[in-house]
Amino acid sequence: MECRLDRQVAIVTGASSGIGQGVGKALAEAGAAVAVNYNSRRDPAEALVREIEQGGGRAFAIGADVSDEADVTRLFRETASRYGGIDIVVANSGMQKDAPSASMSLADWKRVIDVNLTGQFLTAREAIRHFEAQGDRGVSRSIGKILCMSSVHEVIPWAGHVNYAASKGGIALMMRTLAQEVAPKRIRVNAIAPGAIRTAINRAATEGDAGRKLLDLIPYKRIGAAEDIANAAVFLASDLSDYIVGATLFVDGGMTLYPGFADNG
Ligand code: BGC
Repeated sequence: MECRLDRQVAIVTGASSGIGQGVGKALAEAGAAVAVNYNSRRDPAEALVREIEQGGGRAFAIGADVSDEADVTRLFRETASRYGGIDIVVANSGMQKDAPSASMSLADWKRVIDVNLTGQFLTAREAIRHFEAQGDRGVSRSIGKILCMSSVHEVIPWAGHVNYAASKGGIALMMRTLAQEVAPKRIRVNAIAPGAIRTAINRAATEGDAGRKLLDLIPYKRIGAAEDIANAAVFLASDLSDYIVGATLFVDGGMTLYPGFADNG
């Protein structure tokens, strides 16, 4: 069986940059028509659409704030009316607003939880509603697939990033609970937990001296690329992973292997 997504339709939230951009491109290369969601940055989303179209794929850009219920509903409605259905939903939108806990504002706590956790819930909830109403389109073994973008920080505590770590820890049990709930309907829910992937979210930590120091935390001694995550997303969206339900795939070069213990303790 090939890792192909032909005749399928995917929504990728937060696809105007970083990991989401890479995932959108890869799903299109695997044959899916892709709704490239962005929140505020329309230009890079339109650029990705053009790139996909130039490669012979299908895509369109659509603005929506995943923390806004009405926006999420519209995202699904417009994608379904344009492409005739939806089969793959990648709840990827995420952000960091870092500060030591004692000085973190309530606004920064709430915004990160709203986008990273509530946003993924609203996206997954709409996906489930849509898959149930749509039924079996005959394009895949399941009637729909949901991928949550987590992080190694669903298990690794992260000082100075309590809002972010709490959001990703929340995603871990949200994803597994949803997976347990909707698996009998033949809907698969899984997650990817990226490690240090070179994107705009962590530019300061991945370049120069900071980047070299970061390698101490990565047994495989390479900072990841968006394509590393995109490859995992294509696999988890395809029928090759049809029996994978409620799993978190860590794509982290071994970051969750407690590298500090390799020669200490
Ligand atoms: C964060 C990055 C960080 C990586 C590893 C990700 O979830 O968004 O900023 O580099 O985890 O710590």
